[in-house]
Amino acid sequence: NDLYAVVGNPISHSKSPRIHSLFAAQTGEAVEYTAIQAPLEEFAETVREFFAKGGKGLNVTVPFKEQAWSLADRRSERAEKAGAANTLYQDEQGRLVADNTDGVGLVTDLKVNAGVSLSGGRVLVLGAGGAVRGVLGPLLAENPGELVVANRTVIKADGLVSLFRPQAVATELSACGFEAATDPFDVIINGTSASLQGDLPPVPAGVISPETVVYDMMYAAGDTPFNAWARGQGAGKVLDGLGMLVEQAAESFRVWRGVKPETAPVIEELRNH
Ligand code: ATR
Repeated sequence: NDLYAVVGNPISHSKSPRIHSLFAAQTGEAVEYTAIQAPLEEFAETVREFFAKGGKGLNVTVPFKEQAWSLADRRSERAEKAGAANTLYQDEQGRLVADNTDGVGLVTDLKVNAGVSLSGGRVLVLGAGGAVRGVLGPLLAENPGELVVANRTVIKADGLVSLFRPQAVATELSACGFEAATDPFDVIINGTSASLQGDLPPVPAGVISPETVVYDMMYAAGDTPFNAWARGQGAGKVLDGLGMLVEQAAESFRVWRGVKPETAPVIEELRNH
């Protein structure tokens, strides 16, 4: 079997080994997928060792995505812009290649799994950290009519907006603080890490209408604090990041193996267990 792994710290709760094992079983690909906890100061060594031992590909998660990007000899266009990588492999010359499948994972989950169109719509993205930078390119590629990046630290939202302005061909792209976001949006994506602290970004309730689709890039057994709030405000549809997790994994699997697994049965399996 060809060896793959996810690297992070901590890593014990990662669902990636389970997801990729299900993909391998479904496609018949000879893939073995494990989890590696890299010491915080030894990410580069861990990656080198993995490939030196014949490993074929790595997924990278918190807190190493930016380091994975820096370490690579070559980057896909989408990884280049994302400033972070969640997928690593070696090309025929043995060079380390970085890719980022997070943004495609989010957009696929929204469009294909949830049937939500972004094209022409008003989209609010909360947060301006690495997670948001990773998805802005693929979101803009859907040509929303308007995309607002709101963040606690407004200057960071300004920075992302400047960085992505060249990709906003059909989109009015702007930045603001949470409290400045007004009027209902078609789609609201929470890309802050506030849920981790049981917190929610303080956006005004007026951003939500009965037509609003709310998506938290995090997932939890129950609702995240943000999704619970949005449900309470009467949002039309409330989604968590489990589908994104499976979709980014499927895209990594495709990058490595050239085979795209079916995601629906895997999402269902994870949802039910
Ligand atoms: P990640 O890789 O998850 O994006 P990050 O780069 O540290 O992590 O970014 C975290 C994001 O969540 C930032 O937008 C951060 O806001 P600031 O830029 O103002 O720090 C946001 N965030 C974290 N905790 C938050 C909280 N309790 N309320 C609102 N936003 C929060």
